[in-house]
Amino acid sequence: MKRLLIVHHTPSPHCQAMFEAVVSGATDPEIEGVEVVRRAALSLSPSDVLEADGYVLGTPANLGYMSGGLKHGLDVIYYPCLDSTRGRPFGAYFHGNEGTEGAEKGITSITTGLGWVKSAEYVVVSGKPSKDDLEACWELGATVAAKLMA
Ligand SMILES: Cc1cc2nc3c(=O)[nH]c(=O)nc-3n(C[C@H](O)[C@H](O)[C@H](O)COP(=O)(O)O)c2cc1C
Repeated sequence: MKRLLIVHHTPSPHCQAMFEAVVSGATDPEIEGVEVVRRAALSLSPSDVLEADGYVLGTPANLGYMSGGLKHGLDVIYYPCLDSTRGRPFGAYFHGNEGTEGAEKGITSITTGLGWVKSAEYVVVSGKPSKDDLEACWELGATVAAKLMA
């Protein structure tokens, strides 16, 4: 059984809606042999990351960067997981109201350092997530989970 880890910082209903749509896509019954584990970013540990085969990261944009919660989680796991998780697929979703470029750049930089492989386009949402936005989140979860199918 493969494992997809969803690491998220979810401080609001809009972020929660995106998170739930990602989980729904990742747990679609057509995706077989993939267990989905969710972790709040502030509780992330290196073993969570080492024991997973692929990742979805979710964050709001705060002060021009990813949330402090997700940054903390990635700080905690970075060196323990460096060189042990290279080549694993990942995707990411972002919620902001003024601009998420810095958050996207930060995720790209850290995942490049870890050697993770971007396996779906980033999903970026501003304001209340529309039906299309939530479908894009669903697709994100399903796409990264499907990558892990044998
Ligand atoms: C301290 C703080 C800083 C923020 N900085 C940004 C920012 O740089 N860019 C942005 O797009 N949104 C920013 N926001 C808005 C958050 O991204 C937004 O509150 C979050 O995505 C949740 O969305 P919601 O409040 O519409 O539910 C900030 C919010 C807070 C509380």
